[in-house]
Amino acid sequence: MKILLLGKNGQVGWELQRSLAPLGELVALDSRQGNLADLQGLAETLARHAPDVIVNAAAYTAVDKAESEPQQAQLINAEAPRVLAEFAARNSALLVHYSTDYVFPGHGDTPWREGDDVAPLNVYGQSKLAGEQAIQAAGCQHLILRTCWVYAARGNNFAKTMLRLASERDTLGVIDDQFGAPTGAELIADVTAHAIVATRRDPALSGLYHLAAGGETSWCGYARFVLEQAAAAGVKLKVSAKAINALSTDAYPTPAKRPANSRLNTEKLQKAFLLNLPAWQHGVARMLTEIIEKQ
Ligand SMILES: NC(=O)c1ccc[n+]([C@@H]2O[C@H](COP(=O)([O-])OP(=O)(O)OC[C@H]3O[C@@H](n4cnc5c(N)ncnc54)[C@H](OP(=O)(O)O)[C@@H]3O)[C@@H](O)[C@H]2O)c1
Repeated sequence: MKILLLGKNGQVGWELQRSLAPLGELVALDSRQGNLADLQGLAETLARHAPDVIVNAAAYTAVDKAESEPQQAQLINAEAPRVLAEFAARNSALLVHYSTDYVFPGHGDTPWREGDDVAPLNVYGQSKLAGEQAIQAAGCQHLILRTCWVYAARGNNFAKTMLRLASERDTLGVIDDQFGAPTGAELIADVTAHAIVATRRDPALSGLYHLAAGGETSWCGYARFVLEQAAAAGVKLKVSAKAINALSTDAYPTPAKRPANSRLNTEKLQKAFLLNLPAWQHGVARMLTEIIEKQ
């Protein structure tokens, strides 16, 4: 099995380089070698590598910047996936693609199911939804995995920012009215590898799935967990978990509107692929151990 991975240096792409390696011959490209903004070049790259499986971890992910660059977001998040899907349809390849809870309008407190009505609140969400629709319209075998609140140990992340701010500042305020589940790139990559193997065996598994860690929290709850774990590990902080101020979204205006309800119902994926998605604290605690050990 020949696998082409696009976006190898992103949070999820980096972990996919590890999790996909045992599945077959893996060709992993960065944004220069596989540029999604160059549709002609992308088609040539696909023809040259002739993959059995395409895993697209590349995306335009600058949520606020997308508000002022809608065409670029559309090109990378919708037009390029269409090119990938049309190749996959013509060549009986499997396309794996990631999408987001930002396709939903974000009201209520019920975790979103795959079939719920979509209504993105921002340009990024609109472009990601258009990408999903382009893949579905092409009729290729596909796995579209909608996820949320992705973090990775490598590079910058929310937990590292909270640890830095809590050691530098005397007070810290974090949004407490947006809810979701912090989901590790490691978990996404491991589930992806498993789902590819299962879908290659049983093409009826092709489809749209929600993939997120178990449970839910707010950004403030996430920050409190991070500081509690760090304090328990002996990290010296100026702000304690309990002292974090809970803010409302209104107090922190951003160019792109964010959904308040980013909860994803993952029952379909767990049932289809016989998986158990661990509680979000599991992966965050692991990532914190790695960060703190390196300090
Ligand atoms: N992060 C989240 O919280 C979140 C939530 C829900 C869904 N998702 C989805 O999950 C997937 C993976 O996200 P992530 O967090 O791993 O993203 P990420 O860390 O921002 O990585 C995105 C990758 O896409 C690459 N890229 C950007 N423009 C490109 C282009 N024109 N051609 C080729 N590659 C390009 C980037 O390469 P360079 O570094 O070279 O620019 C980077 O490696 C995406 O589909 C995203 O929409 C993410």
